[in-house]
Amino acid sequence: MEPDHCALISTSINIENAYFGDIILPSVSSIGISLQVVTMGVVSRNWLYVKKFDGEPTNKNFQLIDEELPELQDGEFLAEAEYLSVDPYMRPYMSRFPVGSLMIGGQVAKIVESKNSKFPVGAKIFGQFGWRTHTVCNPEKSQSDKPYLLPDFGTLPASLALGVLGMPGNTAYFGFLELCSPKDGETVVVSGAAGAVGSIVGQIAKLKGCQVIGIAGSDDKCKWLKTLGFDHTINYKTENVLEALKKAAPKGIDCYFDNVGGTITESVMRLMNLYGRISVCGTISNYNSGPITVQDPQRDFVFKQLKMEGFIVSRWRDRWMEGILANLDWIKQGKLQYEETVTSGFDNMPKAFMNMLKGGNTGKAIVKVQ
Ligand SMILES: NC(=O)c1ccc[n+]([C@@H]2O[C@H](COP(=O)([O-])OP(=O)(O)OC[C@H]3O[C@@H](n4cnc5c(N)ncnc54)[C@H](OP(=O)(O)O)[C@@H]3O)[C@@H](O)[C@H]2O)c1
Repeated sequence: MEPDHCALISTSINIENAYFGDIILPSVSSIGISLQVVTMGVVSRNWLYVKKFDGEPTNKNFQLIDEELPELQDGEFLAEAEYLSVDPYMRPYMSRFPVGSLMIGGQVAKIVESKNSKFPVGAKIFGQFGWRTHTVCNPEKSQSDKPYLLPDFGTLPASLALGVLGMPGNTAYFGFLELCSPKDGETVVVSGAAGAVGSIVGQIAKLKGCQVIGIAGSDDKCKWLKTLGFDHTINYKTENVLEALKKAAPKGIDCYFDNVGGTITESVMRLMNLYGRISVCGTISNYNSGPITVQDPQRDFVFKQLKMEGFIVSRWRDRWMEGILANLDWIKQGKLQYEETVTSGFDNMPKAFMNMLKGGNTGKAIVKVQ
């Protein structure tokens, strides 16, 4: 497999296509190459994964290093990160990478030098470059996960390419509409409702004429969800989820968009209606702790003839811009709202990541480099 030319790091590890949707391990190769070809003196600051996760991530799992980048070759550009994403998937995915790997992740970056006419200086891009401030990239040599120029967001901030106008927005758009097939008047439950994906799912469900119940981890988040149009909210940390759901969904639940798994999901399953649809997006309740024991759900599946399907958003890679433009259109029409929780400073990447996993974010968690 060709090395990914967008993520050469000085510790001699190339990340090959660390795209969200494809679990591809980085290969250890090219020892010393990046040190031998340094001529430009541009230095990238990179966060490495230096200790295996065990339970909740801590500062000990990460190390910040400097990498001197090579001179640009024909077809390459140099991108400078402006915003970086911290996402739940980084927790389970990094566990499969060897210690010493670059932390994976997407970023919005500006082209600051270019020998590629399709990526001119000044252009803003999305790239799956990892936790690094600067990247030399030849997009033609990237395999599955090519960087792309941001579409025209008008006056909206470019950072939205990490949230509602990027991977999480597409996760909500495709993962909900394609797998739940919501119908007017149906009851929809969303767990992880106040996060990047869940907050968009709930609003799309309202746009489709559904009654929407959001489950989130604080009263403030529940209040915010009401401002987005959610009909009912449940604070899973202070309420009995099953009892609260019985009150909020007296006619039962037709669609469930599951971001969390575990005992919250177990409660939702009890109240699913005949021919209910469940879209399994994530299981964040077990990312730090490992599998959680729940009661046997098969009984509900048989008697209620339920459909449950998991997905990875890259399934819709060929329709990527369709999702982004649909969400953009709804935002411009005032029908879709978004929130960002912004942490300042590249040095604070681990802090922002750990904070997000603990529920410190409302909407999309991002890091602003400067
Ligand atoms: N399948 C895909 O292609 C795909 C793509 C993107 C994301 N995902 C998954 O979708 C889910 C949401 O991702 P996101 O980017 O939108 O993250 P997010 O919801 O913005 O942030 C994570 C949130 O998870 C909640 N959480 C943490 N521990 C929890 C627990 N034990 N039980 C319940 N909730 C907990 C926290 O909110 P509270 O304060 O409410 O606890 C936290 O704010 C994740 O499971 C992620 O892995 C899947």
